[in-house]
Amino acid sequence: MDKLDEIIEGYKDIKGGLIPVLQKTQEIFGYLPKDGLRKIAKALAIPESHIYGVVTFYSQFSLSPHNKYVIKVCRGTACHVQGAKKIISAVSKVTGLKEGKTPPPNSKFSFETVACVGVCALSPVMVINDSYFGKMTPKKVRTILGQYES
Ligand code: FES
Repeated sequence: MDKLDEIIEGYKDIKGGLIPVLQKTQEIFGYLPKDGLRKIAKALAIPESHIYGVVTFYSQFSLSPHNKYVIKVCRGTACHVQGAKKIISAVSKVTGLKEGKTPPPNSKFSFETVACVGVCALSPVMVINDSYFGKMTPKKVRTILGQYES
């Protein structure tokens, strides 16, 4: 955690420093480890619950380690109304992964759900790394994930 100490030290007196601390922490570890978040909360005198609120709101942050391809299914209001549950179920079925659970290292995929990713007109939406897929259906999930598996 020495690197984390350096990051915190650089931002602890800066108002609004939480987001850059979280971004830099994720750059180092590839995700935001729970013990790191506790340390950040204590050092910045911010309640852990507030930090978890920030981390779970912004889709760029992850609380679990990632594999090569990170699948994010939006469960925001527009996507929920348009069938996000079916998309989540289809991703689980195709990959064998449960959302938010640490994936086995031999899987190419990590899987999580996120709040709105900002393209509600395309709902329901799935994101794989930096690629956005809109108007998703379970059939499209199978087709798209099949392309990533080959
Ligand atoms: S609610 Fe899913 S993109 Fe906005």
